[in-house]
Amino acid sequence: MTKEDIEFQQLLRDLSEDPRCLKMKNYIQHSDITTFDHCMDVARRCFRFVRRFHIHCDEEALVVGAFLHDYYLYDWHTYGDHLHGYHHADRALKNALRDFEIDEKVQGIIRTHMWPLNLTRVPGSREAFIVCMIDKIVSTIGAGDNFNAGTLYAIVRHGFTKARLAALSEDDWHLLARYAMAFSADVCGSLFNYVDREFAERLD
Ligand SMILES: [Fe+2]
Ligand SMILES: [Fe+2]
Repeated sequence: MTKEDIEFQQLLRDLSEDPRCLKMKNYIQHSDITTFDHCMDVARRCFRFVRRFHIHCDEEALVVGAFLHDYYLYDWHTYGDHLHGYHHADRALKNALRDFEIDEKVQGIIRTHMWPLNLTRVPGSREAFIVCMIDKIVSTIGAGDNFNAGTLYAIVRHGFTKARLAALSEDDWHLLARYAMAFSADVCGSLFNYVDREFAERLD
């Protein structure tokens, strides 16, 4: 085990063994990956990402927020009204506030991690943006996360500025929706949780 692995484990030591967090092992996120494994994976990748690129940030908030970002504690395949993608960040935050003492930065990470699906909840800190981005890349919720990934891809590919995002025209909305739906539809026809590069490059 590397020094980095040990430091990562120390940041999550209490939470990763907490019986309430272990409940996330009871729920499948996608294929055979549990929510616990998904959250641990996102947390680990976030930590490695900031270390690799020497990004100065609150590492504890980053890792704790990443680990709790999907702490919604239900089986989203059978629960509720098929709007899990929109609602689960609220549920995860509510559960986390009930069970743990988490500061505002961690709360923000959980609350905004589904941006841009939750369009008005823009990540408000460096840590929140990193978790939002890494969660998309890990992308284990399938169509929902690929909807987000398609939207982000359109934003980057077409060079949307902050000002343009704040005042989207009808054509802009159509463009974003077209990419989002294309990503979602493609991933539903695949065994994998992501679209391939050639598919993305073919979109115009
Ligand atoms: Fe999520
Ligand atoms: Fe997630």
